Amino acid sequence: MKTIIEPFRIKTVEPLRMTTREERLAILARADWNLFRIRADDILIDLLTDSGTGAMSAEQWAALNRGDESYAGSRSWFRFEARVRELTGFKHIVPTHQGRAAERILFACLSVAGKMVINNTHFDTTRANIEALGGIAVDIPVAEALIPSDQSPFKGNIDLAALEELLTGRRDEIAAAMITITNNSGGGQPASLANIRAASALCRRVGVPFFLDACRFAENAWFIKLREPGEADRSVESIAREMFSLADGATFSAKKDGLANIGGFLAANDDRLARREEELLILTEGFPTYGGLAGRDLDAIAVGLTEVVSEDYLRYRMASTRYFGEGLMRVGMPIVQPPGGHAVYIDAGGFLPHIPPREFPGQALACAFYEDGGVRSVEIGTLMFGGKDPATGQERQAPLELLRLAIPRRVYTQSHVDYLIEVAQLVADRRQGLRGFRITEEPEHLRHFTARLAPL
Ligand code: F0G
Repeated sequence: MKTIIEPFRIKTVEPLRMTTREERLAILARADWNLFRIRADDILIDLLTDSGTGAMSAEQWAALNRGDESYAGSRSWFRFEARVRELTGFKHIVPTHQGRAAERILFACLSVAGKMVINNTHFDTTRANIEALGGIAVDIPVAEALIPSDQSPFKGNIDLAALEELLTGRRDEIAAAMITITNNSGGGQPASLANIRAASALCRRVGVPFFLDACRFAENAWFIKLREPGEADRSVESIAREMFSLADGATFSAKKDGLANIGGFLAANDDRLARREEELLILTEGFPTYGGLAGRDLDAIAVGLTEVVSEDYLRYRMASTRYFGEGLMRVGMPIVQPPGGHAVYIDAGGFLPHIPPREFPGQALACAFYEDGGVRSVEIGTLMFGGKDPATGQERQAPLELLRLAIPRRVYTQSHVDYLIEVAQLVADRRQGLRGFRITEEPEHLRHFTARLAPL
């Protein structure tokens, strides 16, 4: 069959509000051209993030009712722990209210001050948490990750030669190594099992702890099944289990492949590290059997972690994202190839060569998608990753100027995707007229969330 069919039907609907172009222009001006400042009611299709924006299943809603809100030792916790352990095999599981809480606790316990954390590419919150603790976040993606048109199947791989060089030459300066699966800041591209295996072996040889930032583990495992020689006959769950078995621990945001609206966890095999993590958890998140979550949230995540490895679901999700990416290419928008799992990334720098990185071509494109169709997306370029380098005080430039259109899980239908492609055509038709932006006000960390901008 050629038709991409959602493997679910809709039981609850949430109306969308239409707006006119004039209204949207006024809304943009009021929001100082920062889409994070727009009320959700003023958005028609919200592709800002795939994080916490998914639709829960009937089974998850039923699980909410089973939630046990006991402060300590609740039944929900044991169901959550059992599913996370079955999936990951990690010895210690520490629940957190979302991914960045897991990151903050992990990096505090690893004492990253003055040391490097190495990653294929740190996501913004990961980098910010390391830098806020005085650590140095080092990105070593493979070279093809930085070439949007490159069709390599595993552009989320870490550069093994660079990793080996750092691990042998500068072992004492390294607190930990990580691989982010899939590589969100690098176009949502997967890492291969072979790459994770090799990185793990290099780290183990010199005793550097190796972690997975596993937010989108199921999508990564699906790409391994599709693309890595010899993996086609394995279940997604078995591939996922092997990925986790190669790491000493993981950080996880359940707002992505947990199919939940909130939640996360931190996992570790090391007893001493886990004890320190639990102590810090109690100080700032909550008791180790709820970690800042309600019991019902733990139950929803436990069910979500079972549903997300469903092959019908993953097949539909990846087919739909690919269809969207192909539609964007048809209207002349270059995208990061091949299309990722959770999002399509437009190469805004390549599409708008008349707007230099310091004038944020990704933001220009984000505002155009909103103006033309009420679509919200997010710049992943120099607005997000620029700002002052804490070490040198120099203005930083992102390696790529991207616009990410992230797809919430189980939320939009194929006709929404067709509408998005029509909006892209409108934007493409007026590309020469699009202008860049300047920042009029920005905070010290994670400036893209709250900065105010003005069109040039
Ligand atoms: N790691 C990665 C790779 C992420 O994509 C995110 C969040 C986090 C960690 C932090 O998790 O939001 O639960 O605190 N990414 C979202 C996004 C926000 O839009 O890509 P969190």
